[in-house]
Amino acid sequence: MEEFISAIDIGTTKVCALMAGVTHDSLGNLALRILGEGQAPSQGIRRGVVINVSEAIACISEAVEKCEQDAGMNITSAYIGIAGSHINTLNSKGVSPVEPRSGVTMHDMQRALEGARAVALPQNQEVIHTIARQWTVDGQSDVQHPLGMSAYRLEVDAHIVTGSSTAIHNIAQCVRAHDIEIDELVLEPLAANEAVLRPEERRMGVAVVDMGGGTTDIAIFEDDGLCHTVILDMGGNHFSNDVAVGLHAPFETAEELKLRYGSVMPDSVPEDDKVWASVFGEKSERSFSRRFICEILADRAEEMFEIIGGKLDESGYFDKLPAGVVLTGGSSQLPGLTEMGRSILGMPVRVGAPSTRLPITGLSRNLQSPAYATSIGLLLWALHEDARKIRRQYAAESSQPNWGSQLMRWLKNLLPG
Ligand SMILES: Nc1ncnc2c1ncn2[C@@H]1O[C@H](COP(=O)(O)OP(=O)(O)OP(=O)(O)O)[C@@H](O)[C@H]1O
Ligand SMILES: [Mg+2]
Repeated sequence: MEEFISAIDIGTTKVCALMAGVTHDSLGNLALRILGEGQAPSQGIRRGVVINVSEAIACISEAVEKCEQDAGMNITSAYIGIAGSHINTLNSKGVSPVEPRSGVTMHDMQRALEGARAVALPQNQEVIHTIARQWTVDGQSDVQHPLGMSAYRLEVDAHIVTGSSTAIHNIAQCVRAHDIEIDELVLEPLAANEAVLRPEERRMGVAVVDMGGGTTDIAIFEDDGLCHTVILDMGGNHFSNDVAVGLHAPFETAEELKLRYGSVMPDSVPEDDKVWASVFGEKSERSFSRRFICEILADRAEEMFEIIGGKLDESGYFDKLPAGVVLTGGSSQLPGLTEMGRSILGMPVRVGAPSTRLPITGLSRNLQSPAYATSIGLLLWALHEDARKIRRQYAAESSQPNWGSQLMRWLKNLLPG
C-alpha cells in the first residue's frame, strides 16, 4: 500500500499545504510524488506565531481543502513548520557509559541524548528537536553511526531547539481544528535546507538564509550537521513597509511596486524611470522615481545583510563557511540581493529553490520557487524521517531484538540523517 505524507507550511504571507506519495526512484531510493497542493493568503499569523486563532484556522482550512481537492483524498496527519522569535537553540553534550561486550546499544544512545536534552529551560519553553550532531566513542570523535561499536564511553554533541509552549500550543490547536494529527513540528530552517542545499555545501559549511515575509531564518550547517540557528524578526513585509512609509502609500500598493519594479541596485535604474501609484490623501495617482523606490529597498537590504553578518559573527561560524550563504524564501527573489550579499558578507552567495534534481516527481513550476523551499523541505524532512525510521528499525532488530516500539518512537527525530 502506498504511504502518504502531508505538510503544512504556515507562513506570515501564505499557508501552503502539500500532499505526496512515497515511491522509489529507478535506483530503489525513496522518492516523492506530489499528489496535491493548496495555498491561501495567511491571516491571523504574524512572524511565525498565531495572533488570531479563528483567522488562522480559516486560512489553514482554505489551503488544506484546496490541497485535498487537488489530491482527491483527505489529509489526516501532517508535518508542520514552526518558526518565530520564540525559538531558541543551544548546543549541549550528553554522556553514557557502554558495556564493551555488547557494544553501543540504542539504550546507550538514548541515555546520552537524554543527558544532552536535560538542560535548564526558561519557563514556558519546551524542546522541539534534539538533533545529534556528532558522536564520540571512547574519545574518537566524528563517529556517524556508533550503534554496535565496542567502547566504554559514548558522548554526543547535540543541537537542542526549543520554542514557547504557548506558541506551539496555538499552532497545534489551529491544525487539530481540522482533525489533522501532527506528525511532527519541524523548525522551518531545518526543513528549508533539505530543499535547497547540495550535500557538499552542507558538508563544507554553509548558512541557509530563508527570507520570508515576516521572518528571516538562518541555519548554519557543517560536517552534514546543523550547528546553529537564528530567527530574525525581519522579512519581505519590512521592505514593503519601508516603501509604503517612503511614498505615503498603502502597504498593498507598496507591495505591488516592490514586486513589479523593485531591485536593490538603484544605480542600474535610469534616473528618469517613473512609476505611478495611488497615495494617501490624493484622489489621482502620483508618479515616483523608480530609482527612489529601489534606494529604499537597497537601504533595508543592506541593513539585513549587516544583521545577518553580525549573527554569523556572533555564532563563531563566520570564517567556517566555505560554501557561503544560500538565500531562499520569497524575498530572496528581489533582484540584486546576491550581488549585495557577496559584497557585504565577502563570501559566496546564491539563491536556492526546490528543483527537479530533488527526488520528487510532479513538482509544478509554481513550487519551483524559493518561496516554497520550506513547504517542499517539510516533505523531504518527512521522507528522510521515514528513511531514518527504517534504518533505526533495522538497526534495532539486528542489535536489540526485544527493544520496544516505544523507544523507537522516542528516538524519532533524534538521530542525524
Ligand atoms: N519576486 C519577488 N521579489 C521580491 N520579493 C518577493 C518576490 N516574490 C515574493 N516576494 C516577497 O516574499 C515574501 C513572502 O515570502 P515567503 O512566501 O517565503 O514567506 P512566508 O513563508 O509566508 O513567511 P515567513 O516564512 O516569514 O513566515 C513577501 O514579503 C513577498 O513580498
Ligand atoms: Mg516561510
